[in-house]
Order: sequence, then C-alpha cells, then structure tokens
Amino acid sequence: RILILDFGSQYTQLIARRVREAGVYCEIHPYDVAESTLRDFAPRGIILSGGPASTVGETAPRLSPLIFELGVPLLGICYGMQVMAAQLGGRVEVSAQREYGYAQVYVHGHSRLLQDIEDHTTAEGEALLDVWMSHGDRVIGLPEGFKRIAATTHAPLAGMADEKRRFYGFQFHPEVTHTRQGIRILERFVYDICGCEALWEPRHIIAKSIEHIRTEVGADTVLLGLSGGVDSSVAAALLHKAIGDQLICVFVDNGLLRQGEADQVMATFARHLGIKVIRISAEARFLEALAGVIDPEAKRKIIGRVFIEVFEEEAAKLSNAQWLAQGTIYPDVIESAGGKTGKAQVIKSHHNVGGLPEELNLKLLEPLRELFKDEVRQLGTELGLPFELVYRHPFPGPGLGVRILGEVKKEYADLLRLADAIFIEELHTHDWYDKVSQAFAVFLPVKSVGVMGDGRCYDFVVALRAVESVDFMTARWAHLPYDFLDHVSRRIINEVAGISRVTYDISGKPPATIEWE
Ligand code: XMP
Repeated sequence: RILILDFGSQYTQLIARRVREAGVYCEIHPYDVAESTLRDFAPRGIILSGGPASTVGETAPRLSPLIFELGVPLLGICYGMQVMAAQLGGRVEVSAQREYGYAQVYVHGHSRLLQDIEDHTTAEGEALLDVWMSHGDRVIGLPEGFKRIAATTHAPLAGMADEKRRFYGFQFHPEVTHTRQGIRILERFVYDICGCEALWEPRHIIAKSIEHIRTEVGADTVLLGLSGGVDSSVAAALLHKAIGDQLICVFVDNGLLRQGEADQVMATFARHLGIKVIRISAEARFLEALAGVIDPEAKRKIIGRVFIEVFEEEAAKLSNAQWLAQGTIYPDVIESAGGKTGKAQVIKSHHNVGGLPEELNLKLLEPLRELFKDEVRQLGTELGLPFELVYRHPFPGPGLGVRILGEVKKEYADLLRLADAIFIEELHTHDWYDKVSQAFAVFLPVKSVGVMGDGRCYDFVVALRAVESVDFMTARWAHLPYDFLDHVSRRIINEVAGISRVTYDISGKPPATIEWE
C-alpha cells in the first residue's frame, strides 16, 4: 500500500483515486502524520502532494525527517518536490514567473521513472511530455545525490531523481488528466519502483469487507437508515451479504421524495434483494413540522430533527440492535479530518444522520469509509444493485424540501413530483441523463398568467435545473438543446394541471448553488 501525505492540494484526492485505479490501496494522511501511524501503516511508497504554501519562509510546512529514513520510495509532486528539495539540502526560490496550465517538459537523461514514457520527440531526439503545471515556487538547486530528469523553459528543474534512494520529484502534476502520460508515470512509480501489485479490485474489497464485518458484528443486530441513495444502498447490500437477516433497514418516507421513489426502494431492497426493510410513512409528520416555515436553513434543521426523532422511535422498538451502520465514504472521512487539521477544504455541512449513535447508544459501523464514490459504485454493481440506482444523480437529504421554495405544502410537493418525473423521463429517453451530473425541477410558489385553450389561467411556475460537475463544488449549467427543452416544457404545461410556466436555470456554481435553497 501507498501513503499519500497531504499538503492541502486540491488534487490530493485525485492522486489517491489514480493510485486506487491502478489497483493499489492507498490512504491520505496529513503531512504531519504521527510517526506511530506512519510505522503502523508500513507503506511500500509515499507520495507527497502539492499544496498552496511556499517552502520559502519560517512557517513552511515540513516533513518529519523520519520520512526520508524509512527506506521506501518517495514521489514529491509540486510542493512535495520543493519540500523534498528544501529539506534534503537543495535550493528553492519564489519564482517571479508563475507557471499555470499546459506546458511541455523535456525529459533529461535516463531515469527509471520516465524511461520510454513520452508524448513527442524533438528533432534532436529528445523526449517531450505534455503536462499540467501549477506552481509559483521552483527548485533551483538539487540536493546531493539527485540529478535532473525533466525541465521546462521556466523551471529548469521540473523533475529530479535520486535513483539510489528511490526519491523522485516533479514540478508538474501527473495525477491530472491533462498530463497525458500521468497515469503511466504513477503506475511506473507504484508497480516498478515501489513493487506494489494490482490487488485492489471490487471482488477483493467485497471479500475483505465481509470478513471484517462478520468479525466485528458477531451475532449482533445492525440497524441502517436506508435513504435510497447510492451510499446507503451499497452499504445495505454489502451488510446483507455479510450478515443476512441480522441487518434491519429503516426507510423513512418523509413525503419529500420523488415520484414513485418509496415504492422503488421497497421493490429493490425488500422484494428483489430480500433485505429486511421497515418502511415508515411519516409524510404528515414532516409536513406538519414544516408548516409555515420559509427559511431554508430552518427547513433543513426541521427535516433533520424529525428524521432523527422518527428513526429513534423505531430503533427503540428494535431493542436488540447494538450497531448503527452508515454509508460514510472516504471523501466524508477526509473532509471531516480536514476540518480538524485545516488542510483540505471544508464543504458545506449536509444533513445526514450524524449524532445518532451517541443518542441511541449504538456502536457505529461504516463499511464504506475507505472507499471513493466510484469504488462504491463498482461495489454496488458487483453486489447486484440495479444500474439505475448505482448511477443515479445525487439527491439531497432534505429532498424536495429544498426544491420547493419557501413554505412546503403537500399540494406543491405533488405538483413538483409530476413535473420532475417528466423532466427525468425525457432526459433518459433522449440519452441526456448520464451526460449531466444532476438534474431536477424546482417549484416556485408564484403564479403567472397564461392562456390555455380559450381561457385565461393563473398558475404556478417550475424551473428546470441541469448541471455538469465533477465534484459538485463547482458546476456549469448543462447546455441542453432548445428542442429538448421545448419538448419538456410543453409536456409539463400540458400534463401537470396547476403549472403554466416553465423556465430553465442558466446560473453556474459559483456564484449560484446547485440547489435553489
Ligand atoms: P449545492 O446546492 O450546495 O449542492 O451546490 C451541492 C450538492 O450537494 C447536494 N446537497 C445536499 N445533499 N444534504 C445532502 O445530502 C443536503 O442538505 C444537501 N444540500 C445540497 C446537492 O444536491 C448537490 O448535489
């Protein structure tokens, strides 16, 4: 396994995903990881991420000298290379010329890491790589034992190697796809330099997790709050495979789900997979609690609180449960660690069932906490969950509660469900569903005038929203074809009595968010 030490680069998770894609297990830890953790982890190799800091100056983040004494290969990327150079006796300067974006790198001399890897060859027979750069500082003096292996016009030392100690550094980012040979470079590092094998794949992950869950849980009963989203669904399928009927799922229908969603969840899990699912219809209770509330944050809080109340009441009835399982995944773990160490960016805190275990006196079980979203999806497929579920767009915990602007009413939720279902159905029919990252309708509680048939009407408005996004931190509105939008709009206005106007949201994130509330 590989250890990734994080200096706060926005690409750190990407490094980890690339290494995992190469079939090698890896974990991200802060750069100042405890020495005991480091020794226990016993990595085959260490990758040092980039980061926003400058190595020049008193306060620059530094590595424990132990890192250089473990006798394992190191790969420093950007800041990781600079810090390696600075700590091993080389020189780093604040460059007057920032380099950002595409660059061409000359491969110098011979190195095990770059041998036979190239994008082009110059007339003089030198190998060239197309890479992605993003740095201010640069290395200007190599530490002892190192030689230059790559250069650009602005960074004469864009790559360095100490073949004896197996220490390597690059000023560019091999983990981003713009560096065309990046994957090969990382694979070369983990396979050939570190000696790792490609053993990390869904079948093995499942076998290992099942074993782990069985040992931990024994004969106990496990409770899981099933939402129908990817993470809790995969957690349910995995736990069911491991402990069968010792797993009891609780599915709370809060009345803010999409058209047919509750029935679908029951069909998939209870009927198809034979998992014990208790369905709680709590629509009236949620709507009552939301009556008269218009502030978005207050609405979120109420939905979260009522969910916990309902869930706790149910858990109290199942007095033999000792465990609460949650679909926490690796990015959630890194993000909450980021909050503590201040190294990774902290995202908006979302409603989930955090806080439940303490109040319920249950032990926490998180079978997916080592996995990235794409790995969770692969696992889901392997475990027999339907494709539509595994590759479904994300859906917020508070559901339609944040897609009905202002006060939530049953009448509004019913209208919104119909309009949303038409939009989603048409996205599927026209092959757009998988091309956009998230799509939905939003209910606007304003009335506008229209003419339908011979009469005047005065009805509600819906907005359609479709975005493309990689991490949902930023997004651009999807450029859906006019003909398609025209068709969807006509269907909604013709088929949903009560809606007389449809608009399309053309705001990007930032400054707008994906959801409207
Ligand atoms: P925003 O609206 O913040 O959304 O741009 C980013 C992503 O997060 C989802 N989202 C939520 N998910 N609970 C969730 O589980 C929430 O309260 C919540 N709010 C937003 C949103 O659907 C989008 O995918």
